[in-house]
Amino acid sequence: MRVPRKLELSLICTRTLLIFFSLLPFLTTAQEETFGNISDDDMFQKARTKRLASSSHSTGYWSFVQPISPFFDKSPPTNITTQQGQTVYLNCVVNNLGDKTVSWIRRRDLHLLTVGTETYINEDRFSSAHIEGGQDWPLMIKYPQTTDAGIYECQVSSDPKITFLVQLNIVVPKAEILGPHPMYVKIGSSINLTCVISESPEPPMFVFWYHNKRMVNYDKEGGEISLQKASDDSAISTLYIKNAQPTDSGNYTCGPSNAEATSISVFFLHGEKPAAIQRDTSASLSSSSSHHDRCVTFVAIVSWALLR
Ligand SMILES: *[C@@H]1O[C@H](CO)[C@@H](O)[C@H](O)[C@H]1NC(C)=O
Ligand SMILES: *[C@@H]1O[C@H](CO)[C@@H](O)[C@H](O)[C@H]1NC(C)=O
Ligand SMILES: *[C@@H]1O[C@H](CO)[C@@H](O)[C@H](O)[C@H]1NC(C)=O
Ligand SMILES: *[C@@H]1O[C@H](CO)[C@@H](O)[C@H](O)[C@H]1NC(C)=O
Repeated sequence: MRVPRKLELSLICTRTLLIFFSLLPFLTTAQEETFGNISDDDMFQKARTKRLASSSHSTGYWSFVQPISPFFDKSPPTNITTQQGQTVYLNCVVNNLGDKTVSWIRRRDLHLLTVGTETYINEDRFSSAHIEGGQDWPLMIKYPQTTDAGIYECQVSSDPKITFLVQLNIVVPKAEILGPHPMYVKIGSSINLTCVISESPEPPMFVFWYHNKRMVNYDKEGGEISLQKASDDSAISTLYIKNAQPTDSGNYTCGPSNAEATSISVFFLHGEKPAAIQRDTSASLSSSSSHHDRCVTFVAIVSWALLR
């Protein structure tokens, strides 16, 4: 007996469609997974998550897959540098957390810092910045100090437990006025004081300059003051005085908002008696420098000034 040609065609068609539909989930999964260059491990996890996700609100096609364990997103930085006092966040991104909890532990002394969103250390500088429903579990550290530097561990209470490590580095900004200390200038010349603030990823909010004990930032006449970023982690502030006069001599201090102040003494080669220079110099120089050295330096500077 022969099956009519029309019926045969429609049977083939139905079978093809059936096969196609049963393969559809594999086809779509495969398509998305070939995107980008992801490791086998990631690929496996992603596929499982996807199946679980679709099972929760569709036919339950994948519901026979056993629940999968939590895993970390590897993208958050694992080596963080902040400057002293600058609030810092160490992030940890957990996929598929389920009913497990995320804790932060300080490796140095294995102190438990946070569990979920609760703080477990007697210091409110540490807290969880997790937002309900999110996958990010950032640890926030306020006013970090150099003693806070070290490794922090984000731990998920799965079985076996999994950990994500973050290294925290704390830098302390330093200020330094360039040039020889003390500085000798001629009357009528200009004084250019350059203060470099280094180890300062966050530039200082302001730099105050003092002449002796008086702040000169808002002086109408006198020096011009500038502040600019010099590199990723340094800034420069300059105090520039045109046509300097003996009244400009003395102690200049650069006081950045984020670092300890530093000073320089400015003396005039003419208009002040050499004896006065000698006395001031010996007062400000450290005891390690001998009288002879100072004498040589002084003679060298005077002859340099005379020869010009
Ligand atoms: C993909 O990853 C492998 C191993 O991780 C690496 O060897 C390869 O260069 C990567 N390919 C591309 C296109 O990034
Ligand atoms: C982490 O960053 C600091 C500062 O940028 C750097 O000195 C150090 O070598 C880095 N450590 C690692 C393990 O990459
Ligand atoms: C002051 O010195 C710095 C470097 O020492 C220089 O960049 C700057 O241009 C100088 N300023 C003036 C006004 O000469
Ligand atoms: C300059 O003044 C500052 C602030 O008053 C002081 O700490 C520093 O010791 C003085 N430096 C010198 C060399 O006199």
